[in-house]
Amino acid sequence: MPTSSSKKTDPAVRAAELRALLHHHAHRYYVLDAPEIPDAEYDRLFAELQALEEADPGLRTPDSPTQRVIGQVLPGFVPVRHRVPMLSIRTETDTTAEGARAFDARVRRELALTEADPPVAYVAELKFDGLALSLRYEAGVLVQAATRGDGETGEDVTQNIRTIGQIPLRLTGDAPPVLEVRGEVYMRRDAFERLNERQREAGEKTFVNPRNAAAGAVRQLDPAIAARRPLSFFAYGWGEVAGWEDMPPTQSGVLDALQRFGLPVSAERVVAQGADGLIEFHARIAAARDTLPFDIDGVVYKVNDLALQQRLGYVTREPRWAVAHKYPAQEQVTTLRDIDVQVGRTGKLTPVARLEPVFVGGTTVTNATLHNEDETRRKDVRVGDRVIVRRAGDVIPEIVGVVPRAALAADQAGAAGADAVREAALDVLEAQPDPAAVAEGTAVEAVPAVNPNDYPGRPEPFDLYKKLGGRCPACGSDIVREEGEVNWRCSGGLFCPAQRKEAVLHFASRRAMDIEGLGDRIVEQLVGEGDAPPLVRTLPDLYKLGFTSLVVLERMAEKSAQNLLKALEDSKKTTLSRFIYGLGIRHVGERTARDLAAHFGSMDRLIAASEEALLQVHDVGPVVAQSIRTFFDQPHNVEVVEQLRAAGVTWEEHEGRQEAPPGPLAGKTVVVTGTLPTLTREQAEALIEGAGGKAGKSVSKKTAYVVAGAEAGSKLMKAQELNIPVLNEDELKALVETGDVKE
Ligand code: IVH
Repeated sequence: MPTSSSKKTDPAVRAAELRALLHHHAHRYYVLDAPEIPDAEYDRLFAELQALEEADPGLRTPDSPTQRVIGQVLPGFVPVRHRVPMLSIRTETDTTAEGARAFDARVRRELALTEADPPVAYVAELKFDGLALSLRYEAGVLVQAATRGDGETGEDVTQNIRTIGQIPLRLTGDAPPVLEVRGEVYMRRDAFERLNERQREAGEKTFVNPRNAAAGAVRQLDPAIAARRPLSFFAYGWGEVAGWEDMPPTQSGVLDALQRFGLPVSAERVVAQGADGLIEFHARIAAARDTLPFDIDGVVYKVNDLALQQRLGYVTREPRWAVAHKYPAQEQVTTLRDIDVQVGRTGKLTPVARLEPVFVGGTTVTNATLHNEDETRRKDVRVGDRVIVRRAGDVIPEIVGVVPRAALAADQAGAAGADAVREAALDVLEAQPDPAAVAEGTAVEAVPAVNPNDYPGRPEPFDLYKKLGGRCPACGSDIVREEGEVNWRCSGGLFCPAQRKEAVLHFASRRAMDIEGLGDRIVEQLVGEGDAPPLVRTLPDLYKLGFTSLVVLERMAEKSAQNLLKALEDSKKTTLSRFIYGLGIRHVGERTARDLAAHFGSMDRLIAASEEALLQVHDVGPVVAQSIRTFFDQPHNVEVVEQLRAAGVTWEEHEGRQEAPPGPLAGKTVVVTGTLPTLTREQAEALIEGAGGKAGKSVSKKTAYVVAGAEAGSKLMKAQELNIPVLNEDELKALVETGDVKE
């Protein structure tokens, strides 16, 4: 971490480094909305510089980031001068209860209160993690929306803001003639997840966190794009106010009034008495933080009485009457130790980051998702990198990016001369690709030609197929990635332990085998998701269950065990289409299962069908055909089908079969004899029938072909006698496809 070298380094050198780093990151954050490091990391650097400057004021240069509020007006937006500046609030970095006590003590001291005086009343609010906004209403009508900018001058974003449904274009009730409402635009976590999911599906850049997504949307030059980003708003204060005759004398009173005017004000606000009241609020919200639908980075305390606020006034640019009391940061930096691949319940393969343990969002995180291969590459995440982890709410922690080596330059710099260090750091920073240009790129190739994160010996970009050797880590089946799909998947759906529960639930579902009583909780126990060893490893095991093994399960009374056994027994007699549907082949829904059953008429014919043959089926396109083929190419899947049959599952073959397709073998009889290399006798015959031919049992003059495998006996001799063409398995396959035997 950049802070680590500070002890050895000359303070002047370190201060220069820190200034360079902070300028860079402030630009990324405020101007480009594309931060490279978490806020907590920025705050640490900032605090380190502040400490150095305090210890030696000679180090404080006019351009030090500590000397001004950063924020630039983007070209393209009209600047707006705030009539009342948009201030920031002092942050209490002590995240314990002491933070609240310290604030209360300061307020009491400033107001010259003694212990005998009653507790000060505060309003305690949430500190929303979004983008500050000023909304100007004149005669109740929204006339202008502006960002904070540097606090004095912001950007006019009225057009974009008008697209936010929660922001009233006209206030209700008796709003004052002029009212500037201050508040926070934010994106709900669910909206953020959906947006990123969409971006991922489209192979596009994802956003680091809801705040950046919101900031990006607000500062979109195209309001149509802004409108597609679902934003929300909470009002928490005001700027210029004119002609408000009966303006309430308290913060809480004004918030209530804003709510009456139709503005969204968070319900999570209280009037708290003294430090104890603040501490209680801080603790309660900390416990509820994960369940809130949006990110907060702390709570805010404000003296409730506006007259007292005025008495307390301001220090530099911060009110003495308010403080932000933080919670642990939701983003942190750590080292990526390894990338593993996890098999999901539906066979989806997800790269998972194994991390140097790090405390983030209130818990220690050691694993985080990398979502998929493309995204891992787009973010250019590799083993050994310093990465940013985000954990918010009950969402799985994720890696949002790599900390550029430039940001870590100070780490390596050691105690070299001040200028040399700064030059080196700036050189690397200069070489950084324009993030907007990178964001434009959609494909894996988006990693720029000159990769600023490379160093000699850096591991190769992540390659999921290579990492797994093409096999599912849970069951060894082939892994596949369909065209246009971002995810790799395991194709061993019926056999893969990771997919057991889903496979059983689907097989048992009403529209498949309709096994009543096989609910979620029971299946979980059967497949051994708890500590117990699994009773059911694959579907056929269901039919081996006995009364004694069932009654011992939780939530399983004698009666329900008996009922379940009966339901299992009853399910054995089914239809081909239900059975096919029950196998849970990817892309094979109920309708396709029906079409397949009608077309092929038998399970063996379906198992043996080539992609070309599958494409003949109504509504089956290449993706579906390939998915079916891959499924039956996994020997374990076919084994499960065979075992289900052996367990007594039956269905009427030829069910609903409409007139057989003419096919290349129409009117021809083909006899199979001996053991073929890969096809069973049944499958070979199914192929013949699937091509419109007849599978004969004995050889005669009318036999068109004889297919002979190992140890073929009298039938082969008869064929030779009668001069009937003899084919091997490959030739049979060619024949059923084309009607011709390949040379
Ligand atoms: S009051 C003069 N209240 O935190 C006081 N700010 O540095 C002005 N924020 O830029 C701010 N929730 O974007 C206030 N309930 C809240 C807030 C809040 C979030 C943000 C705001 C401001 C920053 C304070």
